[in-house]
Amino acid sequence: MNFKEELTEYPILSSVLEASEGLGEQVYLIGGFVRDLILKRPSKDIDIVTVGSGIALAERVAALLGPQVQVHIFKNFGTAQIKQGDLELEFVGARRESYQSDSRKPAVEDGSLQDDQNRRDFTINAMGISLNKKDFGELVDPFDGLRDLRKRIIRTPLEPGITFSDDPLRMMRAIRFATQLNFDIEPDTFEAIMAMKDRISIVSMERISDELNKIILAKTPSYGFKLLYHSGLLGIIFPEMIELQGVENIEGKGHKDNFYHTLQVLDNVSETTDDLWLRWAAILHDIAKPATKKFDKKVGWTFHNHEEVGARMVPTIFRRMKLPLNEKMRFVKKLVRLHLRPIVLTKDNITDAAMRRLLVEAGEDIEDLMKLCRADITSKNPLKVKKYVQNFDLVEQKLKDLEERDKLRNFQPVITGAQIMEAFGLKPTREVGEIKEAVREAILEGLIPNELEPAYAYMLKIGAEMGIKPIA
Ligand code: CTP
Repeated sequence: MNFKEELTEYPILSSVLEASEGLGEQVYLIGGFVRDLILKRPSKDIDIVTVGSGIALAERVAALLGPQVQVHIFKNFGTAQIKQGDLELEFVGARRESYQSDSRKPAVEDGSLQDDQNRRDFTINAMGISLNKKDFGELVDPFDGLRDLRKRIIRTPLEPGITFSDDPLRMMRAIRFATQLNFDIEPDTFEAIMAMKDRISIVSMERISDELNKIILAKTPSYGFKLLYHSGLLGIIFPEMIELQGVENIEGKGHKDNFYHTLQVLDNVSETTDDLWLRWAAILHDIAKPATKKFDKKVGWTFHNHEEVGARMVPTIFRRMKLPLNEKMRFVKKLVRLHLRPIVLTKDNITDAAMRRLLVEAGEDIEDLMKLCRADITSKNPLKVKKYVQNFDLVEQKLKDLEERDKLRNFQPVITGAQIMEAFGLKPTREVGEIKEAVREAILEGLIPNELEPAYAYMLKIGAEMGIKPIA
């Protein structure tokens, strides 16, 4: 099979060909680039392997491209990189590696192309394409990765136990590629993951979370979570999520399986957003249901306050998973905490005041919150779904009207602490805070508009009630 035609899209490769000629070395495209070329998924990262020195080859290519082209050398890894426009070329010498079973530190030796292909993770990632004059564009595919691509299968090139021992992160990668590409994992490969799952613990949490985030960003992330669950990996890397699984029955009353519910919410929200953190909010929205679950003889199962308890679990989970502890985490926490509020607003006799409060608390994130709430509708009853959707449409319309009228998104009451201190001749004391809070409440309750004059008058009134006189 020859890919000469397809390679014409990448004129830079003719310089690689020329350089390989000059050095008299065997040079090949390898890995994800070859896979994506065949899948017609244009890729910017071009991995090139040479049976020789990757650094020497990169330097030669750069010289051919012109004096302005820089080579970035990573001596420790024996690799070199060239950036050209939006393309990134990575050069590496073919290697034969043997790993110690208890660490990730490989003993590296130079090897042949076949050696290099042997030590790659999956058959679909182990294909090479020749960049040599005699057979330019020819596929070198010792493990029939092409067949696996066509049959949509993830399979290790060697016996899976060997491939996964070399780098246990590959167990996560198998699931990640299956999810991104919507492939099956070949049964022996999957069984090896089940058998070797505990080895994931020698991998750093950062690398694990990187793969998990890629699973979460796939089109249908639930597929990846189901694979993680059935392989046993999920229980190790994310035990809180396993707790969601299962249904308990008392006196004929059950509750929904919150694991599958959560996955449904995640898929739903993923149809409306590519934002990783909104997807994380979906994953964590019910995370405290197991911890707050109670059975009440009258009403059945309750999960009282699970949104608050769940919000408090977010930083703990983020810290352990080495996810960022910055505004991304605070966003997820906020959405978990607020995820029931719009539902409450669909009940009758809801006041403008309650709406205003939600707008002020959600601020810029109100649209994302509404997306999460809509995704949270997973009833199988089409009539119920229709009713919920209509209710949310109504809430959204009301929120919009209120927002237009009161501009609450970045709400700041017109009266500041400084104004209060000046009006009453006060030092920064508890009273100042109390008056300020009272004015804020009055605005949110709709007793007064958020305008200077009425707010000032209200401030004076509150002061009077507290026995504080304004200075004349
Ligand atoms: N590789 C491997 N084992 C790993 C990581 C990578 O064998 N643990 C090999 C595979 O051949 C892979 C190549 O290195 O194709 C490049 O790895 P990477 O850039 O992580 O993945 P890609 O396959 O390029 O896919 P993506 O860009 O989607 O991550």
